[in-house]
Amino acid sequence: MAIASLFSGVRVVPVLTIPRVELAVPLARALVAGGITHLEVTLRTDCALAAIEAISARVPDAVPGVGTVTRPEHLAEARGAGARFAVSPGLTPAIAEVARTIADMPLLPGVATASEAMVAASYGFDHVKFFPAGAIGSVAALRGLAAPLPDIRFCPTGGIDAGNAGEYLMLGNVFCVGGSWLAPAGLLDKEDWPAISALAKAASAL
Ligand code: 3PG
Repeated sequence: MAIASLFSGVRVVPVLTIPRVELAVPLARALVAGGITHLEVTLRTDCALAAIEAISARVPDAVPGVGTVTRPEHLAEARGAGARFAVSPGLTPAIAEVARTIADMPLLPGVATASEAMVAASYGFDHVKFFPAGAIGSVAALRGLAAPLPDIRFCPTGGIDAGNAGEYLMLGNVFCVGGSWLAPAGLLDKEDWPAISALAKAASAL
């Protein structure tokens, strides 16, 4: 399944860094309760794959994905754990080749420039992550890319929060936004699930 159909109707994807595996299921349930279903679990902690496995097995309404894919072998590992989509901060030829072979886990590759978007498109990716959006020109940069690259759809990530997400989502070439603001480390530490649900609810209303 392509990103376009898997993400149909999805406007906000939380970027999750889960420090302990036992937080994965309550966190996913809190986000789903707030209307956020597609969850990017980054490979930035040792328990990331176990977290994806737990969410996949125990939170049926969630669609877990893997983030911070920087090596081709991450893709099969994450698919084995139950990831339904993958996100990478950039694209390498090896990642593009391996991603092609895992048809049931589409990849959203990261790009930061027109050239990178064109390379991604040459591998068949017409939906890409625009990263780190806040540092590479924000809304103005995406507006600038719309005319020369009309067939590319972007998911800006990096520096997005509840305050500016709406501005990005109004752009015609933006299909969703991603960010860590939905599960801040402070709330995760306190296991404050109602607060995380409230953030998710606000985001799903965007
Ligand atoms: C990512 O991996 O997409 C970013 O680290 C998330 O960026 P943010 O923390 O600024 O939302």
